[in-house]
Amino acid sequence: MQLNHQEIGIGIIGCGRMGNLRSSISRNNSSVKYIGISDIDSGKAHQLGERINADIISTNNSDIINDENIHALIVSTSEPEHYKPVINALERGKPVLVEKPIALSVDEAEKMVEAAAKNNTSLHVGYTLRFNRHYLIGKQQIIENKVGNILSCVGRFNNTQRTGAEILKRSKHISFVNDALTYLVDLFGWYLDGKTPKEIVAKGHGKIYRKDGFDVDEIAAAIITYDDGTIVNLSMGYALPKNYPSHGRLVRAEIIGENGVLFFDDDRKEHIGFSESGMHHAYVDTNTEMGFLTSNASGNWAVDKYWGPFADETRSWLEFVTQGIACPNTTGKEGLQNLKITLGIEKSIKLNEAIKLEV
Ligand SMILES: NC(=O)c1ccc[n+]([C@@H]2O[C@H](COP(=O)([O-])OP(=O)(O)OC[C@H]3O[C@@H](n4cnc5c(N)ncnc54)[C@H](O)[C@@H]3O)[C@@H](O)[C@H]2O)c1
Repeated sequence: MQLNHQEIGIGIIGCGRMGNLRSSISRNNSSVKYIGISDIDSGKAHQLGERINADIISTNNSDIINDENIHALIVSTSEPEHYKPVINALERGKPVLVEKPIALSVDEAEKMVEAAAKNNTSLHVGYTLRFNRHYLIGKQQIIENKVGNILSCVGRFNNTQRTGAEILKRSKHISFVNDALTYLVDLFGWYLDGKTPKEIVAKGHGKIYRKDGFDVDEIAAAIITYDDGTIVNLSMGYALPKNYPSHGRLVRAEIIGENGVLFFDDDRKEHIGFSESGMHHAYVDTNTEMGFLTSNASGNWAVDKYWGPFADETRSWLEFVTQGIACPNTTGKEGLQNLKITLGIEKSIKLNEAIKLEV
């Protein structure tokens, strides 16, 4: 269902890093006339609520979800806490944008997708990587048939041990496959729209975070084979030294088609800042002398506004709910398929065998 409101109220559940950004971006959107926010942590709820001048601030998510001035919800809670607020909002027929990954279990994700369909409303998942301008342009080349039938996608990303440690602080039971490799699964799944993944072979291992008591691999590699033979080859590492100057994922992506290719070099070395007083790290609360200025995955604050893929993603979804403009945001169904793939990768690593996929 597409809403026809030109002016709406937005609810934001979860007032951490992402909730702060989504709220600020929503507050600056001229279609958003009312904002309600909630967080189980009263201090965080009030700090954000006061900063953006929220119309209602609560520690009880139901106050926000049930508020009749609120027409659509953004769920920015930590990974294990997506399900309940998403389901409650969908059951009230309110469109939802939930952060990635959609959920941590297939059962929860399926229930979310079913609830959206049953209540004639929409569910989208925040896969911000898609909203980097170059990946959007890549999608356009595929739509215009410049690449032809895709034969293979190769992707890798690296991130730092410091960022990895922050993620584990947020949700100690997630894996980097489920939390971060998932972005490449989303990008290639989007590019391969219409093809069905059938089999996964994956390997992984880890030493760095196990020293601190987290049972998680920092290195993983996977080969996903699709129904027509297309091969997706993925590799990830959360092992860059703590002070490596990246503030986010460094990505390489290569798409080989029968008629053309797309090569993306996202190692972000082209814009460097260096200061003896330290460059602010946008994700981790620390300073290092050197920083790759555009490497923060979601974007950056500059001259009092948030710029980059996270802002474009939020705006794209807001235009969908306020004006019914079609949006390229990841759908709930795509989020569910993605979860099945990342869980398949984890299973293949654990069992040391190939996994057949049913998507
Ligand atoms: N798209 C992106 O670029 C991007 C980047 C980072 C994180 N994320 C995703 O965003 C989500 C949140 O990440 P974050 O870095 O903002 O985490 P965070 O820890 O900074 O914030 C999460 C907030 O949720 C609150 N919370 C937890 N359970 C709750 C509940 N049941 N009800 C209400 N509030 C609750 C916590 O108190 C916290 O304030 C995760 O799913 C993460 O994977 C997306």
